Amino acid sequence: MVAKAAKIKIKNGEAFDVVFYANPRKESAYRFRATHIGEHRAPKVILCDDGRIQPGKLTKVRVVSVKKPASRDRGFIEVEYLSQVRFALDDGIYVDRMLALKLQALLESGLNILLDGPQGCGKTVLSRKIAKALGLEYVFFNCSAVYEPTDFLASLQVKANDAGQAETVWIPTDILRALEAAHAEPNRRFLIFLDEFNRCREMARNGIMPALDSTRKMFNPLTGSSMMIPDNVLWIAAINNGAQFTGTTSVDPAQLDRFAPLKIGYMPDQEETRLLVRRNPSVPRAQIVKVVQAANAVRSDDELGVDLSMRATEEVCTLLGHPNFMSKEGQDPVPELLKSSFCGRFQGTWDDPTSDAGLVWQTIVRALGL
Ligand SMILES: Nc1ncnc2c1ncn2[C@@H]1O[C@H](COP(=O)(O)OP(=O)(O)OP(=O)(O)O)[C@@H](O)[C@H]1O
Ligand SMILES: [Mg+2]
Repeated sequence: MVAKAAKIKIKNGEAFDVVFYANPRKESAYRFRATHIGEHRAPKVILCDDGRIQPGKLTKVRVVSVKKPASRDRGFIEVEYLSQVRFALDDGIYVDRMLALKLQALLESGLNILLDGPQGCGKTVLSRKIAKALGLEYVFFNCSAVYEPTDFLASLQVKANDAGQAETVWIPTDILRALEAAHAEPNRRFLIFLDEFNRCREMARNGIMPALDSTRKMFNPLTGSSMMIPDNVLWIAAINNGAQFTGTTSVDPAQLDRFAPLKIGYMPDQEETRLLVRRNPSVPRAQIVKVVQAANAVRSDDELGVDLSMRATEEVCTLLGHPNFMSKEGQDPVPELLKSSFCGRFQGTWDDPTSDAGLVWQTIVRALGL
C-alpha cells in the first residue's frame, strides 16, 4: 500500500496541491522542484521559481505550461504559485479547534504525536485524514501483533525453498518498506501510524524507541545493522489509556516522553448528531438525536465510569436505516436497538440491574425518560 506510481493527466490551467523541495539542478532557472502529486509520481517533474514557496510544505499551484521533451530530457511542467495550503481536515471528521491547532504545529515541527483517547473517539480516522490533508503516504501498523523488538521492521517466517526444504526468511513489514522508500526518494513523505501502541509487549516496544528520539535509528534485522530514520517520515501512535482496557501494557514515562501527547475525547453531541445525520440520510433526525443523547448520558455518568465508542451510535443508525427498523406507527425502535448496540457492549444483560449492562440501561432509561 506504500508505493503507488500512476499516470496523471496534466493540462494547462489545472490547479493541484504539491510539495516542493530545492531543485538539485543548480544550473536550472527554477529554484523549486516537485516529483510527486500526493501519493502519485508526477508524469514529468514540476518546476517553479516563486520565492513564496516553502520547501516541504504543501502548496497550491496552477499549470502554466507543459514543456515537451527536448532531445535528452523528459520535459517538465511549469507551474505558478497560488497559495500555501492551510492544514484543513475534511468536514467528514470533527476535531476540536484547539486540538487542530496543536496538531498542525506539531506536524509542521516534525514531532512524534501520541493520540490518547477512549475507544471509538476517532484516533485512527484522524490519523488517516491528517495524512490525506498533508499529502503524506499513510502506513498503518497494528502494534498488537508485535512480540519481539524486531517485529516492527520484519517478521521471521518459515517457507519451503525450491528444493522443498523448510527455510526461515525475514519478511519486511510495511514500516520497513516505507523507510526504505523514504530513503530512496526523499521527495516522498510518509506518516507511519502505530495503532494500539500499548497493546504490544513492553520489552518489544523498546525496539522502536531509538527511532522516535534524536537518535532516529532502528535495528534492521534484514541487514543486521542500524538504519537511519529519514526526516520525511512522521510518526503518530495511538493508545487507549485506562485501567478498564485489558490486554494493554503501560507505556513507561521514558517511552511517553518521546511523543507530544494529545488527549482526545468524544465529540460534542451536536457534532456527533450532525455527522450521523449526514451519514444516514434516511434516518429521521429525531431518532439520531435520541441515540446521541443516550450515548452521552452513558459516557458522562461518573458512577458508571465507562466509555461508549462512536461505533455504537453508528451501529444503531445503520440499523435504523434498515427496512426492518424503519419507524412504524406508534413504534419506536430506538430503545430496543440501544439494548443490543449499547448495553450489549458491556458485561451482563440489560435487564440485570446488578450488571454493567443493566446499569447502562438504567442510565439510558433516565436520559430518554422511557
Ligand atoms: N471525531 C470523529 N470524527 C468523525 N468520525 C468519528 C470521530 N470519532 C469517531 N468517529 C467514527 O467512529 C468510528 C471509530 O473511529 P476510530 O476507529 O477512529 O476510533 P479509535 O479512536 O481509533 O478507536 P479504537 O481505540 O477502538 O481503535 C469511525 O467509524 C469514525 O467514523
Ligand atoms: Mg483505532
